[in-house]
Amino acid sequence: MCGIVGYSGPQSAATPLIEGLRRLEYRGYDSAGIALGTQGKLFIEKKAGKLSNLEGSLDSSLPVVHSGIGHTRWATHGGPTDGNAHPHVDNEGKLAVIHNGIIENYSELRKELEARGHKFSSETDTESVAHLLSDLRKKHNGDLSAAMREAVKALRGSFTLLAIHGDAPEVVVGVRRNSPLVVGLGNGENFMASDVAAFIDYTKCAIELGQDEVVTMTPTSVKITDLDGKAVAPKEYQITWDASAAQKGGFTHFMLKEIFEQPKAVADTLIGRLSDNKQIVLDELRMSADEIRALKKITVIACGTAYHAGLVAKYAIEKWAKIPVDVEIASEFRYRDPIIDAGTLVIAISQSGETMDTLMAVRHAKAAGGRVLAICNTNSSTIPRESDAVLYTHAGPEIAVASTKALLTQMVAVYLIGLHLAQVNGALKDAEVESLYKELLELPGKIEQILETVEPLRALTRSFAENNIVLFLGRNIGYPVALEGALKLKELAYIHAEGFAGGELKHGPIALIDKGTPVIAILPAGHEHALDEKMLSNIQEVKARGARVIVIAEEGAHVEGAEHIIRIPVVPALFQPVLATVPLQVFAYEMAVARGNDVDQPRNLAKSVTVE
Ligand code: M6R
Repeated sequence: MCGIVGYSGPQSAATPLIEGLRRLEYRGYDSAGIALGTQGKLFIEKKAGKLSNLEGSLDSSLPVVHSGIGHTRWATHGGPTDGNAHPHVDNEGKLAVIHNGIIENYSELRKELEARGHKFSSETDTESVAHLLSDLRKKHNGDLSAAMREAVKALRGSFTLLAIHGDAPEVVVGVRRNSPLVVGLGNGENFMASDVAAFIDYTKCAIELGQDEVVTMTPTSVKITDLDGKAVAPKEYQITWDASAAQKGGFTHFMLKEIFEQPKAVADTLIGRLSDNKQIVLDELRMSADEIRALKKITVIACGTAYHAGLVAKYAIEKWAKIPVDVEIASEFRYRDPIIDAGTLVIAISQSGETMDTLMAVRHAKAAGGRVLAICNTNSSTIPRESDAVLYTHAGPEIAVASTKALLTQMVAVYLIGLHLAQVNGALKDAEVESLYKELLELPGKIEQILETVEPLRALTRSFAENNIVLFLGRNIGYPVALEGALKLKELAYIHAEGFAGGELKHGPIALIDKGTPVIAILPAGHEHALDEKMLSNIQEVKARGARVIVIAEEGAHVEGAEHIIRIPVVPALFQPVLATVPLQVFAYEMAVARGNDVDQPRNLAKSVTVE
């Protein structure tokens, strides 16, 4: 939830730290701070609010030094104030710590440290670590890495920590447990960060870190050990996207850029998935044909928007492969007794690969004997590393907090899985699979078509800017689309928005309809007449009670009762969510702009939710 960056090298450290924080601000933006390692002491500056507040307070007196740590915060323990902003320091002001995650035993640590004379100045869990490290560093004769190893053994919870000390300012020490941290290997300089985006301008060579590994970094060396001090061989990898992918590229917001990147993201995720002999190629699943035929059940676990991709998976996989699919919100999964066994395939969907609720559900599923397949957009993140297999989506970096292109690629990934399973277990013939795959290949062009015609929708959206409630109706595979439309609107426009299955309307939600209430209805695709007619009845029901109705319908579909119709290209019914979601993203985006909200960093949220 917080963004962390560390630097050691020849540059004036403030530059890569602030640039890195700017790239990580999507992770949290309640406050920001840096600690620079000047010889013998530390220069600390931290400010509540966005990174720009911190930048505004850094004047020309900023020391030119060559190492430091920086932090952008999403508050957990202690409100978003200057005092609670990171870094936190020991009582001598010489040791600074930044932290992402939660130290669960912080209050008992704090009591022990206060009993030993430490004075605390914040309400955070993090400050305990600064005081603890200070004592342990003295015990280990100034060895900050040894102090970190011992400190971590005493900590419970999930955390990434970076620390620096004024007596050896070129040394930055980091550690991770259930929270992301990567090392960037530069030329005469090194980096540590929550995400490679922080240092992609300087190097494309990174090291992934395992649980409880401690990194000691100077300009010319990176040493990794376990908590007992035993050396760990570095696992280097090359970052495959370039710096421009993490910039706005002429768009006013990352979200708008990411909406317009969707045709390419979908195309990239589909590349090379049909062999010459008409088989879906999905080696990443790492399942033999016999194992696939023996599958009894699939359980999908995910959160937020990724959960909606999971609902799409249910409709598609059950229809094609005839395998029962449960979809569960990851945070609920491990607190009941889910029935998982060797015949269960668990699919964990996560853009970031770091969502703590999903990670904990993955661990729970594995412990229960399930096989876990991750669908993920972030290479080498924790969820794919802890899963048995991973299918990477190719959306590229998603910076806006509101997920857009990641969702469309997740849907494509679940279609590929569904087609593969159906082909292997014989539920679909090769010719049917080939024909559906060819339809998938048409999707990027069709998304493009929608994006070329969104201007009238943007203008229309602005006329709803004063409304404080919007309802979304869908049936069948349009139901997850309705849920997603509502989630996007809540997240971006801070409007009360709800998505309903059309049939549920009369069981309660229709009471919400008042004169002028906007209702967005997704008309089922594929001319499934029974459903079409039912949705048309729903439209009449809400219209009769004063609703203003917008309908999303495929070209040629018969629509009655709509104030506005948004036409989308014709696709096989199960693929409709990939198209129908796009106008809803634009609607939410435009509402946020019209209401003067921060589109890329909506209030109270963070991109990557690394606490439970
Ligand atoms: O990184 P993940 O896909 O695991 O994130 C899951 C949710 O936190 C995420 O989809 C969230 O709901 C989005 N901000 C919605 O736009």
